[in-house]
Amino acid sequence: MSTLFVTATGTDVGKTYVTCALIRALRAADRQVRAFKPVVSGFDPAEAEASDPGRLRAALGADAPPLEQIAPLRFAAPLSPPLAARMEGAYLSLNQLEALCRDQMGDDGLLLIEGAGGVMSPLTDTETNLDLIERLAVSVILVLGSYLGTISHTLTAMEVLKARSIPIAALVMSESEDAPDLAETAAGLSSFLPGIPLLTAPRNADGWDASGLARCLNL
Ligand SMILES: Nc1ncnc2c1ncn2[C@@H]1O[C@H](COP(=O)(O)OP(=O)(O)O)[C@@H](O)[C@H]1O
Ligand SMILES: [Mg+2]
Repeated sequence: MSTLFVTATGTDVGKTYVTCALIRALRAADRQVRAFKPVVSGFDPAEAEASDPGRLRAALGADAPPLEQIAPLRFAAPLSPPLAARMEGAYLSLNQLEALCRDQMGDDGLLLIEGAGGVMSPLTDTETNLDLIERLAVSVILVLGSYLGTISHTLTAMEVLKARSIPIAALVMSESEDAPDLAETAAGLSSFLPGIPLLTAPRNADGWDASGLARCLNL
């Protein structure tokens, strides 16, 4: 059993998009894959299909577990998880989040865990996604945008991951809206990261074929 944690340089960069594409590519190759989102905020039960767990569930197809299993902690307020939880009288602890993830990490196949926000977005009042990843001792897929400014955000995120000795299994640049040229931006970032593969996920109507990412991850 292997687990990859999907994190990003910031919020709304493309974690769910990339995770869903990877799930579809793996399923097309008959690989066993599961998805987990330990905590989701901004969750509206009336719009469940459009939520992160709803999108992950759709990518998982007919055998997908119920949404409540993919995302056990769901909060309505479109705020950071600890603030959204507090609005409903709940309190998030890293022990609880770690235990929820570890419960999922037991079975066969690949488990993809989607974090909340970016690498150092808060998950509790005093801890971030980075702390959870470190506790789980797993590798990450780091999703980044192609917007102007992404190089600084990406290099910064990579430095903090390195400082905690967290391996980066893959870097995926998900094309941002109204951004500079994708290939040029990727090349600009790659010159800072010699030898590290960087995949690009262009915006296109048919969705992104993540089979190259699956190969890069040896899945
Ligand atoms: N490469 C891409 N091509 C098309 N749409 C994308 C791409 N990356 C992100 N999006 C869209 O941008 C929005 C934010 O992406 P999402 O995956 O939800 O981000 P995150 O999970 O990191 O918050 C979504 O509507 C998503 O479908
Ligand atoms: Mg998401």
